[in-house]
Amino acid sequence: MMALPIRLRLTGWYFAVLAVVLSAFGLSAYVEMRHSIHRTVDEELHTRAEGVRQLIERNVARGDEDNLQEGLREHTELRMGGALLQVSDEQGNWIYRSPVMSDYGVPRMIPPPRGAVDFVADAKMPLRIWTQKISVGGESYLIQSAFEMDDFYEALNHFALLLWISIPLLLVSAAAGGYWISTRALAPVDQITQTARSISAQNLSSRLVVPHTGDELQRLSETLNGMLERLEAAFKRITQFTADASHELRTPVAVMRTRAELALRKARSTEEYREVIAEVLAELEKTSALIEQLMFLARADSGGQSLNFTPTNVGEVLREACHQGSALAEAKQVAFQEHIAGEPMWIKGDASSLRRLFLILIDNAVKYTPASGQVEVSLHRNDGFAVAEVRDTGIGIAQTDLPNVFERFYRADKARTRELGGVGLGLSIGRWITEVHLGTIEVQSAPGRGSSFQVRLPLAKAAA
Ligand SMILES: Nc1ncnc2c1ncn2[C@@H]1O[C@H](COP(=O)(O)OP(=O)(O)O)[C@@H](O)[C@H]1O
Ligand SMILES: [Mg+2]
Repeated sequence: MMALPIRLRLTGWYFAVLAVVLSAFGLSAYVEMRHSIHRTVDEELHTRAEGVRQLIERNVARGDEDNLQEGLREHTELRMGGALLQVSDEQGNWIYRSPVMSDYGVPRMIPPPRGAVDFVADAKMPLRIWTQKISVGGESYLIQSAFEMDDFYEALNHFALLLWISIPLLLVSAAAGGYWISTRALAPVDQITQTARSISAQNLSSRLVVPHTGDELQRLSETLNGMLERLEAAFKRITQFTADASHELRTPVAVMRTRAELALRKARSTEEYREVIAEVLAELEKTSALIEQLMFLARADSGGQSLNFTPTNVGEVLREACHQGSALAEAKQVAFQEHIAGEPMWIKGDASSLRRLFLILIDNAVKYTPASGQVEVSLHRNDGFAVAEVRDTGIGIAQTDLPNVFERFYRADKARTRELGGVGLGLSIGRWITEVHLGTIEVQSAPGRGSSFQVRLPLAKAAA
């Protein structure tokens, strides 16, 4: 089942709550009004009955009982509303019954014996009748006074009618207003939905219109725009990466192809074939190294790079890397020194990728340092971190290149480094490895004077 649109649901709830509140209000107003009419009338009737009681008492006290009927008539004629009175004795004989009462045919006894009840007389006249039993001088009397309620009940009915008409009207107009307001308030959501629907990989640069309302919807569109910005940047990085990768792969393939084609153009000596094959092999080695790096980064990006985090002694890993590095340095006649503290430094890490990280740095240091230069590797503990440093006296990196050396495919000096065999992926792999170990990597360099790379890795808690 499809859920109703928010604005319909809002309006529905609004309508329901308002209906309950208004009905409760109408009902209680009606009941209260009726109650207060009865109270006022009953008080009046009671006062009248009391007056009659006093009259009877006076009369009996004077021993003037025969004239009671006459006294009552006079009394009722003098008083407003007194025309609605009847008094009877214990045997049910009328002592006094006003003409109106007999016209209405109000019976002698209407329960309860004391208090007020409603009574509809023959002539459809609604009456309120007060009954009171009194005993005077050994005789008991039943006093009944009445009130014509037609005006009051008419007013009450009017009021009820007003409620019956105005409450539904109010409800309908309030619901319509509520629907209009929620439609207006939610209109930007539709707009956001429409724009968002039209955004795809081809137009990732489009943004949602931000309503400057300072409310949730403004925040929503700003948040979505922020997300689009990040997506766009990530998407650009990926397309750039793909383009760079295919470019880097094309070059060696083209080189190998030309070499092979040239070699095949005419018959050659074994020596010449050897030379070509050796050249092709060298290119192939570079290419498979490149493919291996690309695959590493692809796995890193997809989160599929499986690292095995175990307690690892950084010193030991760095020594292994130095062992390989010193061979490289020797081949290039670069002096190689290592200062690695003997005490173990334990971190939670993946030994083989850490070795890879250190090798990348040492390889760069040797590669970008001319013969008779110097490479120095050191490791020390600092403030809960193991700090490894690879320092060289090589060509250095220009200030403008420094912020970019960790980017993929970034090479400070394109021509020279290509010649040296790098494509610019080493340091980006190095940075990824450092970051998955929750560490940081930094570089300082001065062109012509050399560079220094520092890797800070957090020591395992127990060892820190
Ligand atoms: N020790 C260093 N001395 C001078 N330049 C360096 C050094 N390390 C890295 N670079 C510069 O940073 C760039 C990126 O390094 P890296 O990612 O390892 O790529 P590459 O494959 O070219 O070695 C290199 O091309 C080089 O210009
Ligand atoms: Mg490198």
